[in-house]
Amino acid sequence: MAERETWTSRAGFIFAAVGSAVGLGNIWSFPFQTAANGGAAFLVVYLAAVFLIGFPTMLIEFVIGRRGEQNPVAAFKKLGYEQWSFTGGIGVFSSFVTLAFYSVVGGWVLSYIVGSVTGAYFGDPGAYFGAVSAGPTAIAAHAVFMAITIGIVAFGVTDGIERATKFMIPAIIVLLVGLAVWATTLDGAAAGYSYYLSPDFSTLAKNFGSIVPAAMGQAFFTLSLGFSVMIAYASYLGRDDSLPADGSAIVVINTIVALLAGFVVFPILFATGGAGGAGGGPGTAFVALAGAFGALPAGQIIGLAFFVVLLFAALSSSISLLEVPVAYVSENYGYGRSTTAVAMGTVIFVVGLLPALGTNYLTLYNDVVFKFLLPIAVLLLALFVGWAADREAMDELGRGSSFGESFTTVWLWWVRTVVPIAVVVTLYLGVKAIYT
Ligand code: PHE
Ligand code: NA
Repeated sequence: MAERETWTSRAGFIFAAVGSAVGLGNIWSFPFQTAANGGAAFLVVYLAAVFLIGFPTMLIEFVIGRRGEQNPVAAFKKLGYEQWSFTGGIGVFSSFVTLAFYSVVGGWVLSYIVGSVTGAYFGDPGAYFGAVSAGPTAIAAHAVFMAITIGIVAFGVTDGIERATKFMIPAIIVLLVGLAVWATTLDGAAAGYSYYLSPDFSTLAKNFGSIVPAAMGQAFFTLSLGFSVMIAYASYLGRDDSLPADGSAIVVINTIVALLAGFVVFPILFATGGAGGAGGGPGTAFVALAGAFGALPAGQIIGLAFFVVLLFAALSSSISLLEVPVAYVSENYGYGRSTTAVAMGTVIFVVGLLPALGTNYLTLYNDVVFKFLLPIAVLLLALFVGWAADREAMDELGRGSSFGESFTTVWLWWVRTVVPIAVVVTLYLGVKAIYT
């Protein structure tokens, strides 16, 4: 069997992992979720979820991945705990299902890039969304998006994923910063910022039971945790990068990109009439933003730049979602990487036909992953590392790191207690919110 690939450098790994993290979640969901749930008040809860629960959980996946040096299912076996392999398997399944609808949304983004160039959404943004979000156009765009994803993954870990993200991530950051600076000049900027971030503690207090699980789910989703993605990516790591240092960099960059997106989106919306119902469902943000681009003087260029950012964000994430099942199937059954990428991508395309036919399926796929599979996977990961696995395996965290032995001790204690409790409370509140 061919030797396993590794990232060419530490930066290569960080770009790939940031690429996975930075996605539609940052740019498409986060700003609207923040605005709707109490602005800066929500941000406090979200940041706590990201740094106190997400960051330690990312280190769990890193430790398993680098120690295991295998795909996310085989990693558990390599560590000596084959009976826990299903934990990695849940992540493989979640990646599979998520890519099926993520690619559909990626297809919408492609249609909006086309629409920016042709001006097709300028007249009637609602009708345009209706035309491209479901039916033949959506299916065709979903196929194109999936084909690009397959193409990158087929090239491999370094020539495909690393190279693509090294290009896309800097482009995302440069374009977003440019858009955010430009947005300060808009008439609605002040109103937009205040809508985005004004702390509203009463909303937070009133909806605490639904906001906490939402913030936690978003924290896992945005950091690509519970999908086995970070297990897979860390399995291509050299032996002596510092996991805590790389993890911190990834979490911080991901958070900055999410915050930046709000500084782009809301001034634009408020320059042309406010946020309206932009937070109200899978399509409302597209309709509202497209409407705003249609009304702004330089809207066509700005819209194009914005949707290119969204495309790169979506693609750098979708390749990580495809990598997980591809790594598993190709390593487990010994098939070639590119053959597996084409076959797996095609199957996922077919599974994505339902969400391409109607956004209610998209919501269904999303809910199953978000509300159940992710928290369950994270809970199992924490129980595995915290309680089942050998302490010796955790030395992985200290390797090449200046964080020291005491960091590992505190982290392990945190993973044994706080993380599982937080996830169980999240699951409980989430399920309760469905049935009440
Ligand atoms: N982190 C991505 C986002 O915020 C979603 C994602 C999850 C991508 C898991 C890949 C893997 O959009
Ligand atoms: Na993200």
